[in-house]
Amino acid sequence: MEELDASSLPFSYNHNVVNGVVFPTSISQQRMDDLATFKLRCGDVFIVTYPKSGTTWMQQIVKLICSGGKDDGKTLPESIPWLEEDWRAENSFDDLPSPRFFKSHTPYHMMPGGPPETSPAKYIYIARNPKDTAVSLFHHTRAFKVYNYTGPWDHFFELFTNGKVESGDWFDHVLTWWKHKDDGNILFLKYEDMKRDIRSAVMATAAFIGRDVSSDTIDEIVQHSRFESMKANPATNTSWMSHVRHSAEPPFMRKGIVGDWVNYFTPEQKEAFDTLYAERMKNSGLEF
Ligand code: PPS
Repeated sequence: MEELDASSLPFSYNHNVVNGVVFPTSISQQRMDDLATFKLRCGDVFIVTYPKSGTTWMQQIVKLICSGGKDDGKTLPESIPWLEEDWRAENSFDDLPSPRFFKSHTPYHMMPGGPPETSPAKYIYIARNPKDTAVSLFHHTRAFKVYNYTGPWDHFFELFTNGKVESGDWFDHVLTWWKHKDDGNILFLKYEDMKRDIRSAVMATAAFIGRDVSSDTIDEIVQHSRFESMKANPATNTSWMSHVRHSAEPPFMRKGIVGDWVNYFTPEQKEAFDTLYAERMKNSGLEF
């Protein structure tokens, strides 16, 4: 993909391009090159998403599974760092005891440590319907000062549908992981299914990472991972990032619902996106 020429855009959008994919400026080509040889171990678990698809929610669920449903008060990045974006040198993670947990938004073929099919790690991938994902990412991009983005929804819609936002093209990202959904080291979940039946998602996640959880513990996990609980909890509501966000924008824990896209997409945008969706998702077997 060609690098965006910021001067040709009506609105600025600070970003890096790494191996042809848009990344936030906090993730450089050098960092990704260094991470290509990251030493993965058996027991490592990645939570991977296209941005705004339920990463933070799953971080909390995994953390609670590991703590037996008790909230230890540590912030999510302290427990489950975003490997690519973390300020620490990649070899400093070598000292962490197993099991190690990481968050990532990286496309399948660029994952740290090499492609998942040859890796000893496990990967929990969550996909969210692209329309809600786009709306959530729109607010995210306007809110974080680092993007310096002031564009309106109509402009962001164009960036998103052309794959010129962070983590690149939504279809490429989701469909590549989907293709590997039956690999033994990948658990593929959907945000919408989690909304509908969180208990099943918690049980599937616990089984996948090899943890026994009692029914009472699941109750606690469900309670502590509800949207309202996470929004009220300073360890999960991302309030530690307030200083790098514009306060006029909605909070990180914004709505947490399915279908908010109807408040943003015009009829023309809906039609254009539905046509693109039908074309790109054809024969994939993946439905939202
Ligand atoms: S990020 O920045 O990419 O890591 O964001 P991510 O965590 O993937 O996605 C943020 C959206 O997920 C919503 N969210 C939740 N929804 C339901 N239940 C829970 N517990 C929950 N926690 C976070 C969050 O509100 C963002 O979605 P929107 O639509 O913007 O509200």
